[in-house]
Amino acid sequence: MSISRRDFITVSAAALAVPTTATALPTRPNSVRVEGNRFEPWIEVDSLAIQHNVRAIAARVGNRPILAVVKNNAYGLGLTTVGPILDRCDEIVELAVVKVDQALALRAAGVTKPILLMGHFDEEIGGGLAEHGISLAPFTDEAIRVLPLVAQRTDREISVHLYLDTGMSRLGLGYERAVPWIEQIARLDRVRVKGTFSGLTEADDFDPEQLRRLLDVAHQAERRGLDLGSLHLASSHALYHRPECFLDMVRPGLVLYGAHPAGAQEAGRAELRPAFRLRARVVRVERLEPGDSVSYGRNYVAERPTWIATLPVGHADGYPREAVNGCEVLVGDRTYPVIGAVSASHTILELGPEATVQVGDVATLLGPDSPEVHPNTVAERAEISVYDVLMHLSAGLPKVIADGSF
Ligand SMILES: Cc1ncc(COP(=O)(O)O)c(C=O)c1O
Repeated sequence: MSISRRDFITVSAAALAVPTTATALPTRPNSVRVEGNRFEPWIEVDSLAIQHNVRAIAARVGNRPILAVVKNNAYGLGLTTVGPILDRCDEIVELAVVKVDQALALRAAGVTKPILLMGHFDEEIGGGLAEHGISLAPFTDEAIRVLPLVAQRTDREISVHLYLDTGMSRLGLGYERAVPWIEQIARLDRVRVKGTFSGLTEADDFDPEQLRRLLDVAHQAERRGLDLGSLHLASSHALYHRPECFLDMVRPGLVLYGAHPAGAQEAGRAELRPAFRLRARVVRVERLEPGDSVSYGRNYVAERPTWIATLPVGHADGYPREAVNGCEVLVGDRTYPVIGAVSASHTILELGPEATVQVGDVATLLGPDSPEVHPNTVAERAEISVYDVLMHLSAGLPKVIADGSF
């Protein structure tokens, strides 16, 4: 059976159907309830921590409205788990994704706030999205032809955020050509410009120039009587470094989930709470004799009698391979170093001379419970980006909402 792209939109929305409240028990395979005796890895999401982070961000930006970025499965925490939580936050005016099926999945999850697709669309895709009340982010000359066709396909006015390129060279219409392009879009029937935005390169010496370029377009547009809607530029990094980029609205992702965009020393980390845990239970506790080795490559060889514990979670679940270079895992009230290698489905901990943990004990690999398992610490010790720590979490991990236990 061939499937048109229009069918694809309908099918993917149905396939992603999920419960309408964040606390309802999910029915999809990757959202099963985590029962008390589960050994395999799961993710706990703390809705109170997310709400706390949203309030902290709002306070930082003088209560400007927040466009919450939930791209890439809400940075690994689970789009349909996190979306409804953010939907209930007054400070958030809109949610943004970069993939069509994720925009539809948010709606199917019961999100009622506006949703923005910051990605490519054509007539069919745009029409399907507009029917679900999803805003579009035009960034091409072609959009001037396509938007009226999208409008024809739906009975609604189409909302757009104009996406400008001020130096990232990724998406966006080049700022030098923006004003006449905006003028043409402004003339289109049933197209409402809700916002205009660009992305910063987060390069210290270039961000001010990008701001200048965006403001220059805004001033020229204003002189021609064009309404750009809300102007937005700042994502997580700018919230801590570039107050001059806050403009009308801010557009953070990472900080919503309680991780900080740069290093541990950076101001502001303290005001955020990691809003998730990656957990699993110990499946094996064994004693090594001197000369016994651990995992692939015999990276670790015991020098003295040493107890070890195996966790059924590995890099295929999203725990970084590089964690073996100095990361620790919390079991009970102690942390233990990761040794040997993080394989696809297993991680091994060095317990020391005593068997201080038991099979069935809960291990926390990422979370707020100790500084060693804070996502920023894991990123620093593994020498990887903190974005990778979150976004590489496997979409298949079950999610459970743990309100306020963090
Ligand atoms: C266009 C755009 N805006 C905002 C964000 C949010 O970025 P951050 O997670 O650094 O806040 C992203 C994420 O990459 C993005 O692509």
